[in-house]
This record gives sequence, C-alpha cells and structure tokens, in this order.
Amino acid sequence: MCGIVGYTGARPAAALVLEGLKRLEYRGYDSAGLAVVKDGRIEVFKAPGKIAVLEKELGTKLPSGTTALAHTRWATHGAPNAKNAHPHTDCGGTVALVHNGIIENAGALRAALTKRGHRFRSETDTEVLAHLIEELHAKGAPLVDAVVGALQDVEGAYGIAVLSSREPDTIVAARKGSPLLVAIGAGEHWVASDASAVLAHTRSVVYLDDEEIAVLRPHEYRILDRTAAEKEKTVTHVDWDLGTMERGGYAHFMLKEILEQPESLRNTLRGRLLEEEGTVRLGGLNITDEDLLKIQRIVITACGTSWHSALIGEYMMEELARVPTEVEYASEFRYRNPIVDERTLVIGISQSGETADTLAALREAKRRGARTLGLVNVVGSTIAREVDGGVYLHAGPEIGVASTKAFTSQIAALALLTLKMGRLRALSILQGREVVRALAKLPELVERVLATAPQVEQIAERLVRAQNVLYLGRGYNFPVALEGALKLKEISYVHAEGYPAAEMKHGPIALIDDLMPVVFIAPQDAVYQKVVSNVEEVKARGGRVIAILTEGDTGVARLADHKIEIPTTLDLLTPVLSALPLQLLAYYIAVRRGCNVDQPRNLAKSVTVE
Ligand code: G6P
Repeated sequence: MCGIVGYTGARPAAALVLEGLKRLEYRGYDSAGLAVVKDGRIEVFKAPGKIAVLEKELGTKLPSGTTALAHTRWATHGAPNAKNAHPHTDCGGTVALVHNGIIENAGALRAALTKRGHRFRSETDTEVLAHLIEELHAKGAPLVDAVVGALQDVEGAYGIAVLSSREPDTIVAARKGSPLLVAIGAGEHWVASDASAVLAHTRSVVYLDDEEIAVLRPHEYRILDRTAAEKEKTVTHVDWDLGTMERGGYAHFMLKEILEQPESLRNTLRGRLLEEEGTVRLGGLNITDEDLLKIQRIVITACGTSWHSALIGEYMMEELARVPTEVEYASEFRYRNPIVDERTLVIGISQSGETADTLAALREAKRRGARTLGLVNVVGSTIAREVDGGVYLHAGPEIGVASTKAFTSQIAALALLTLKMGRLRALSILQGREVVRALAKLPELVERVLATAPQVEQIAERLVRAQNVLYLGRGYNFPVALEGALKLKEISYVHAEGYPAAEMKHGPIALIDDLMPVVFIAPQDAVYQKVVSNVEEVKARGGRVIAILTEGDTGVARLADHKIEIPTTLDLLTPVLSALPLQLLAYYIAVRRGCNVDQPRNLAKSVTVE
C-alpha cells in the first residue's frame, strides 16, 4: 500500500528518498512522486507506474536540495495517473504533502475550499489537506500549527508528511490510523511509513502513535500531541538486518521466503518449548495463569492469509484446550455488535501488525472490555504496541506480497498458545509433551517437504493453462485449501476456490470436468477416510486430481493423477507441511504464466486502509 519517505539533513535528499522508496516497493503501489525543496522553492515530480518510470523522467541529474519527500501511491480516490500521484501542492506551490490513508469528508471539504477560491488539480481526497494547510500557513501560522489546524477539519485516516518552501529544512508529519515513524540519524532525520525504508541509514526509530505530530529538522526532532504539547517518546532499536530484506540469489522474494521456512519456524519456536513440563514459555502474554483460566471464550480476528491461520487456531483451541473459539474477519467484526466481555480473549493475527481492519477490530474489542492478544510478526508495529500482550512470530521480514513464511509461523505460534491454554485446562502432561516434541521436529520435516520443489515444479507445468482450480480439504486442512486457492489467485490471477471437501457436493461438484484440476489436501489424519470418498467422487466425474498426501499413502495415491508426499506429524501440525507444496505450486504456475510474483497487480503487502 502507499509508502512515505522523507528526509531532512545535509546530504542530497532526492537520491536518499528514492532509495528508501524502492525499499517500500514490495508493499504494492501504482504511481510514485517526489518533492524537493530547492532554493526556497518546492519542485515536484510524479509519474504513473513504477518508481523506475519516475526515475527515467528525472533523468541522470536529480534535483538538488537537502529536504525531500517521496511517495508511492496505491489508488483509492482517482485513477493511478501522474495528476493523482503524490505529493500534492496547494494553489501557490508553497506546501507539498504526501498522504497514506483516506480522508472521509474530502467531498465536503473540497466543495467548501472550491467556494473559497481554491483550485484543485487532482481527483484525490489528499489534495484538500494541502489547501487547508495553505489557508492557515498563508495567514502566518508556522507549518506545524497550520498542519495541526488543518487536521482538526478532517475525518478519516492519515499518515502525512508536509513540506513548506517557507521553512525549507522542516518536515511536519502526523499520524492517525496509518503507520508512520521518525528515524534518527547524525545531523539528519527521516520520516517513513515502514522502517525498511531507512534501515540502510539508521536503526533508531520513534514510532508515532495516533494523533501525534512530528516536527523534523536536520539537528532536532520533536513529537507533539494533538494540542501541540511536546511529548517524550521512546527510541526503539530495529534489529532486522538489511541482508534479510534483500533477495540474495533468489529469483523472487516469495521463493526465498518459501525456502526460508525451516529457519523462520525455528525462530518462532526458539526458547519457547518446555518439553519436560509439556508446555511452553511465552514471555509477552502479560496475563497471569489465573486470568487465562478465567477466559471463557476466544475470538480470533484477522484478514487474508492471517484469517486462514486463525481458522486453524480455532480447531486447535477447541480440540486441545477445549475453549469455545470463533474466527471473525476483522472487517466484519469491527462493524458488528460483537458479544465480547472481560472473559473473552480476542486474538488478532497480523504479519504486518498494521492492517487497518485488524487494528480497528482489536480496538473495538478492547473498548468492550475484552483482553487482547496479538500474534504479530513486525516488532514495534501498531497492533503489537496496542494489544495487552502477544506472541511475536519472529519469522523475519516478509517482503513477498503473497504471505508464506508468516503463515506457517502463525500456525506454530497458535499451537504454542493452544498448548499454554490447554495445559492450564484439559491437556495432560503426556499430551503436552507429544505436541512439544512434534513442534520441535517440525522445521526438519519442513526441509523434507521443500525438497520436493522440483516435483511440484513439474506438476505446475501441467497446470499452467488451467483457468480454474478447486482446492479441497477437511478438518485442519480445510483452511489450507482456502490458503492454497488464495496463493494461486493472488499471484497467477487464475481463478481458484477453496472448500471443505464434503461441501463440494453442495455446488462446486457441478464445475468438475477434465479441464478443472482439483487439489486435495489429504494427509492421513482423523478425517482421511472421509476425504478418500470425496476423491472418489471427483474421479467418478472425470476430474483431474492433485493430492497432497502422507508419505507411503496408497489409498488416495491410487486415485491421484499427481501426488506430493508430506511426512507424518500430529494432525494439528499437518497444515504447516501441507501448505508448503501449495505455496510452491502457486509460485511455479505464476512464474510460468509470466506474472510479477513479488508485486502482483492491485495487491498490497500491508493494507493500511479499511
Ligand atoms: C494483505 C496481504 C496478505 C495478508 C493480509 C493481512 O492482503 O497481501 O498477504 O495476509 O493483507 O495482512 P496482515 O499483515 O494483517 O497479516
């Protein structure tokens, strides 16, 4: 989604902010722009498409100047063209502004501003802010006061950064609902929507909270609250190293991240398994065992891939911990009238920790008195900061838009949490130990499954022309069917559906013919025999079956046209293994179809608007 990078210091700013912007490319965008303060004037450059197009337009000689803002836009209001790209300026070009989020009352503000004589150049909601700031700034208000004043009129979500030609080395930034941070260098400061934009230069960052404003100059930064009163904020050290954020020798981030899963899982589990006691150590829960015992119900809320792992969590919690658990799309939960109280544990799952709907759902749960936990990957992200406690995934930076390693780490983290809850309740020490041992063995089993990549690649070759693919699974592997289908549609634009295998009879079976491959996730678990019958039903109708099955299986294997084997593990952990071939399958199909795997069309890595 939209990216912001701003710099003020002594170095040529344009090159620095463009370099930072490229580090945010993975988040998904459709146009880019740059504003530089030069000799008391603001110069603005914008282009539709990739940052490379903007760079081409800029030519070899970048505009000089030591204060600049850059932006990648993911269109919400108005087409992705140069006119609508950010930065946006006021009537006189004194103010330039970049914005992530949505100004909800932009229509009314635009009408009022037009009546007062302002001329609009774009169709965006953002531009109203430039004109609102202009009105106050033109009357003599310093930039920061003009920004504070303008923000009082807007409704909606924003992360903004603003320049003024009258204050050439100042950037004013503000946040409400859209992530923003200040990064501290020597004699220079940055503002960015994501730490990855600045990590090449500094690791010291201050995360802004909602309704905070930052004023940056080369030698100072100040954080203010919405009344412009100064605030003390903690400086956080970001320990992700740049190497892990680069592609290394891999063709795509997605492939790199798929193959990293033995390591990312080890990191999720490290230091947490207590084999002897048959339980786990989770240092960040911030909740006593007594309070955990008072929990009567769990609601897990998330979006996208994280929602799929939530479904697996539901099955785990109910089977092992015997706590009634429900899964809610965050976007639905937040606008319903959900029944939660202080005996409800609301768990938000989010790779980025910034997904607007998940964040809002957790805030709503908190407001209603529920205890909130986050299963989050990005350390220091907004969800991680706002929940009562949580379990970090420690999967390392995930850059590929299609989530892979975060998914398997989420399942592992859910198993950890289930063990914790289960051992306080119904789960015996022996059962606990069994799960701990199976978890400890998982990274090694993941390595074995990933070794089947060449085989999956061959199967992908056979499926590359398919227009529709059906994914079927039961029990713990029903959510894996959903995730497999999501992976395929996200990156290869092939229509795919995930279904509980038995539910197929209530509709999708009508679609089955020899042109529609059906992927069965059919390991030998508690529902295996039932799945065998479903495979028979598909074969009886001439369907082509690709099966993910347990090593040595013969039941489904004899029916399948193609098969990929996974090792045996506990039922609840099979999704970690069965998801891997599906990630690889989607990857290889997309590559063969010539799709841009790391930056699929229209998608964003971190969805910071609702
Ligand atoms: C976007 C991403 C998905 C991700 C979803 C939820 O749609 O493209 O990969 O699963 O957001 O993101 P989160 O960061 O909250 O897990």
